[in-house]
Amino acid sequence: MEKSKKGEDKNMGKVAIYPGSFDPITYGHIDIVERALEIFDKVIVAIAVNEEKRPLFSVEERLQMVKAFFKDTPKVIVDSFKGLLVDYVAKTNAIVILRGLRATSDFEYEFHMASMNRSLDTHLDTLFMMTSKDYFFVSSRTIKEVARLGGGVEGLVPDLVVRRLKEKFKLPVTKRKQIRWDD
Ligand code: PNS
Repeated sequence: MEKSKKGEDKNMGKVAIYPGSFDPITYGHIDIVERALEIFDKVIVAIAVNEEKRPLFSVEERLQMVKAFFKDTPKVIVDSFKGLLVDYVAKTNAIVILRGLRATSDFEYEFHMASMNRSLDTHLDTLFMMTSKDYFFVSSRTIKEVARLGGGVEGLVPDLVVRRLKEKFKLPVTKRKQIRWDD
């Protein structure tokens, strides 16, 4: 591959890698990718294969949902990786890791991860983007919890993800019963 300067090659331009579990992808993630495309020529959405985290969706299911969403966006490449992120990044032409920050509570975890990655590969920087105000309360974990308990997650994740969540948590359709304290 012909490289010109750091993070650029003649065929792909500036490339950022956006790693995560994406279990499942949310509009918070999508917002980060879309804003990153204003800065980078390509964004690689890299789905981590991490069975220890006991994901709800298999890596194939996560790949399918993310690929379906970005099918008309050629500037987004969707892939999965096993093992260390720095090893995966080294096989691509990206040198910048992209991560979203929702709140200060994310900072400690992200700071540790970015520092560890930089210690493993001193040339590798992590770039943080603040999540848009509309999505700062959205996380894959809360989406799964709300969906499992029968709550609506429409507008927070793509429609396909809403359908996949409903399929996963085959919840019986029960009529809501009003609680009457005077019974
Ligand atoms: O969406 P997540 O679960 O916060 O993403 C975390 C992820 C997948 C980016 C992180 O766990 C990761 O990079 N895993 C690959 C293994 C690795 O490289 N670990 C060392 C970095 S501390």
